Amino acid sequence: MQGDLSTIKGAVAIIPAAGIGERMKASKPKQYLKVGDRTILGITLDKFLSYDSVELVVLVISPSDQYFQDLRYIDHEKIVVIDGCDERVGSVHNALTFLFDNGLPDNTAILVHDAARPCVTHSDIDKVYHSFKQSNKPAFLAVPVVDTLHKIDDNQHVEGPVDRSDLVRALTPQVSAFIDLHNAIKSAIENKLPVTDDISALKLAGHEVEVVFGRNDNIKITEPDDLALAEFYIERQKDK
Ligand code: CTP
Ligand code: MG
Repeated sequence: MQGDLSTIKGAVAIIPAAGIGERMKASKPKQYLKVGDRTILGITLDKFLSYDSVELVVLVISPSDQYFQDLRYIDHEKIVVIDGCDERVGSVHNALTFLFDNGLPDNTAILVHDAARPCVTHSDIDKVYHSFKQSNKPAFLAVPVVDTLHKIDDNQHVEGPVDRSDLVRALTPQVSAFIDLHNAIKSAIENKLPVTDDISALKLAGHEVEVVFGRNDNIKITEPDDLALAEFYIERQKDK
């Protein structure tokens, strides 16, 4: 899909998939590894293509990507493919710039979801999307921190425990109004602020944000052991 996006009524999903997967130490970017008989990226894309409210999926891949062309999604009518950057925030920014340049209405709901989180469920997407629709405030999925946390210094000396009672781990999707996210990410990049997710940029821009507690199995596949865990979770989801 290209051209005029001003008639879009539903939500738009941005899937950043331009990373190299350094921590996975595999021969290709982790989003192209298989979980069961399917690629991680393929599973993630299907979760959003089959989610009724999503009208368009903006997939961000590396300009040097050699693998996407082999996926069956290459000509999918709901997917537009955009070049990424060397940091996640830049990859999301490129997607937002494409949407801006093509006239997407300011209030369109944008769901940003890591390609590396294929275990996300429609029920969790519903929860965070409905939070945004009801409150009109940006919202993100999160889970409580369960381990004891200790602060360490540069030499790995332990400084002491950190209170975890008011901390959460941020997952995706993260949902917000298009123009708010566009402005927040643009400003974070211009001011060289370190943002590793979209909610950080929105908070730094002064927005109030809602936290939505989601499922623990919405893991970000990061290291080799995560592949078996994701396979287990996805098999378990099929049983339901
Ligand atoms: N991502 C992206 N562009 C980048 C970096 C990351 O689109 N320059 C995407 C990844 O493809 C992934 C998501 O952002 O779907 C979350 O990033 P992460 O899990 O850190 O993936 P990688 O950066 O690929 O992994 P690593 O940090 O281990 O290299
Ligand atoms: Mg990374």
